[in-house]
Amino acid sequence: MRALLHPCISLALGALLLGGCEFSHGRPGKDSETLAPDEILDFKILYAENCAGCHGTDGRGGAAIALGDPVYLAIAEEAAMRKVTAEGVRGTSMPAFARSAGGMLTDKQIDVITTQIRARWARPGILAGVRAPSYENLQKSPGDAARGGLVYKTYCESCHGAEGRGGDKGSAITDRAFLELVSDQELRTLVIVGRPELNAPDWRGNVPGKPMSEADVTDVVAWLASRRAQNPGLPYRAIESTPAPGAR
Ligand code: HEC
Ligand code: HEC
Repeated sequence: MRALLHPCISLALGALLLGGCEFSHGRPGKDSETLAPDEILDFKILYAENCAGCHGTDGRGGAAIALGDPVYLAIAEEAAMRKVTAEGVRGTSMPAFARSAGGMLTDKQIDVITTQIRARWARPGILAGVRAPSYENLQKSPGDAARGGLVYKTYCESCHGAEGRGGDKGSAITDRAFLELVSDQELRTLVIVGRPELNAPDWRGNVPGKPMSEADVTDVVAWLASRRAQNPGLPYRAIESTPAPGAR
């Protein structure tokens, strides 16, 4: 199992390749025969053609994080979602969609996608006054990786196994194929909101009755990131040092 490419990554790469073929032929959606690609402002078409392959139909069930998860939408900041959609995340399979960043979509189309994701899938009040750890690492704190190792034992090991090598209830999350293609922000997001459709708990559910604190989240992400740094000179490093087409 460990020798295989991480399932999420292989799915995401597969989707990227498929998506790439669609783009390169400039094939318009089935409902858009009469519209030029940049005139399409129908959310369903834009989402299906550009996002569903990785983030799932209806914003869940894809290889990449569920954008339709109302807990995610309660925590993720709209401006941050827009920025990622426009500019992509360098070193990962999340593409840049804005023309200014080498993508295919107009600013207006990106606005439609990001505002409609929220309008359709958010459930205001879902956290009902519960205070969640902040989406971004606000203090830009590097975190305490050593403490994060202890946090890992308390909150994660029961599913993801010793040292994050994988267990009965969760996949390996410290193998390099996974860590090299995921950003620290995405690790943070995943720790806070989980993957409800895959039975990965959010920050409240790892140990029932014992929600993770802000520092727990920051430190466990620092610990995961430190596993990445322990494997220098990987082939994937080349991706990070070469800007993606159009990336800043
Ligand atoms: C080829 C696969 C792929 C496609 C297509 C794709 N994404 Fe992503 N997306 C990802 C991956 C992988 C990440 C995590 C990146 C990281 O590690 O930071 C991501 C991250 C994101 C995030 C940030 C999640 C967070 O942590 O807050 C947003 C927002 C997002 N994508 C929106 C979109 C939208 C909108 C579209 C369509 C216009 C789209 N994505 C298309 C793979 C994809
Ligand atoms: C109750 C079991 C459980 C606990 C506890 C748990 N997870 Fe998970 N986690 C899962 C499942 C199930 C998934 C989704 C399927 C998979 O990747 O195994 C997942 C997915 C993830 C992913 C995304 C992996 C991917 O393939 O995209 C990360 C990162 C992650 N967990 C980190 C953590 C961290 C860090 C903790 C502790 C703070 C934690 N998890 C606690 C079950 C758990």
